[in-house]
Amino acid sequence: MVPRSASVRGVGGYLPPRMVGNDEFAARLDTSDEWIRSHLGIRSRRIAEKESTSDLAVKAGNCALESAGTGVDSLVLATTTPDHPVPASAPAVAARLGLGPVAAFDLNSACSSFVYALAVSASMIVAGLAERVLVIGADTATTLIDPADRLTSVIFGDGAGAVVLEAGDAADAGAVGPFVLGSDGGRGDLLVVPGGGSRQRKDLVPPQDGPFLRMEGRGVFDGAVAGMSATVGKVAAQAGWRPGDIDRLACHQANQRIIDAVGARLGLPPDRLLSNIEHVGNTSAASVPLLLAESSRRGRLAEGQRVVLAAFGAGLAWGAAALRWPGVRAVTEGVADG
Ligand code: UT7
Repeated sequence: MVPRSASVRGVGGYLPPRMVGNDEFAARLDTSDEWIRSHLGIRSRRIAEKESTSDLAVKAGNCALESAGTGVDSLVLATTTPDHPVPASAPAVAARLGLGPVAAFDLNSACSSFVYALAVSASMIVAGLAERVLVIGADTATTLIDPADRLTSVIFGDGAGAVVLEAGDAADAGAVGPFVLGSDGGRGDLLVVPGGGSRQRKDLVPPQDGPFLRMEGRGVFDGAVAGMSATVGKVAAQAGWRPGDIDRLACHQANQRIIDAVGARLGLPPDRLLSNIEHVGNTSAASVPLLLAESSRRGRLAEGQRVVLAAFGAGLAWGAAALRWPGVRAVTEGVADG
């Protein structure tokens, strides 16, 4: 008997309408378009001015459901920025999508949330707990940013991406897995929002740091390059591929220089590295699914290609997944084509 597996059946993405170019930051902070482009590879990003994370998630979820042309029996929302501390946002998203009383929960592993959520969702299918899962990555990371911090202000953007996973067999186009997941809480201080959680009651979190993201950029940069390169190599080996067999690498979009360095370490030519950071910035949990949706719309992904998804971020936590690209038509809203 062929072992049960999970396959991608639909892909969707959504970007909010307000575009913010680098010059807007240069006008009020000690930074420049040249610095942001040369250090990060970002020209603009979208900001959700009037929408919450669940608003973005509903839009991307609808796109993925339309792409798949089916319903689902479970929903996993990968996010670091739920609408409220309690309850989780996934049940509200499921209700607004008209999915009925499905299983629905949030999963927070910061920028690696989507890869973790994909692994958990695929495992639910393999275990027989679900037939079809809507996996959404959505974040309004800009709500965590101190507007006076030039370092974090210029990096992040808002958005959402989603896939529909369905039971299938491992030989299918669209089959996902294996997965490699990992973490190192000993380096958690490199990227942290100190306030707003239960630690605040025990420790005196300096008020100026409280609700905002604090980042030690160089440490995260080095960790991301080393961590993603190693994890991609591991997952490729588990899939029976050499690094050179990877047709497309879909890295978390944190910094174009990180993406290029990971590609160089693996010996991959630049045309195999998917990228959209230039016009979306770092969208945290939305980064990888949004990249897949947009790359598919732009003809950068073709059926049967060997794709590796990789993410790294706060925790520290990281993950990678192997995927045979399916014959799907991605559906997007607010994302430029061509
Ligand atoms: O999802 C994961 C989230 N975060 C990341 O992935 C970020 C990872 N880190 C990075 O992408 C990079 O470390 C940065 C882009 C943040 C910085 O690049 P870098 O090559 O590590 O910077 P650098 O060492 O060349 O320059 C750092 C300098 C500092 O000034 P001093 O102390 O050298 O005088 C910063 O204060 O750049 C300064 N700086 C800025 N300058 C102009 C920091 N932000 C800015 C800015 N504009 N926006």
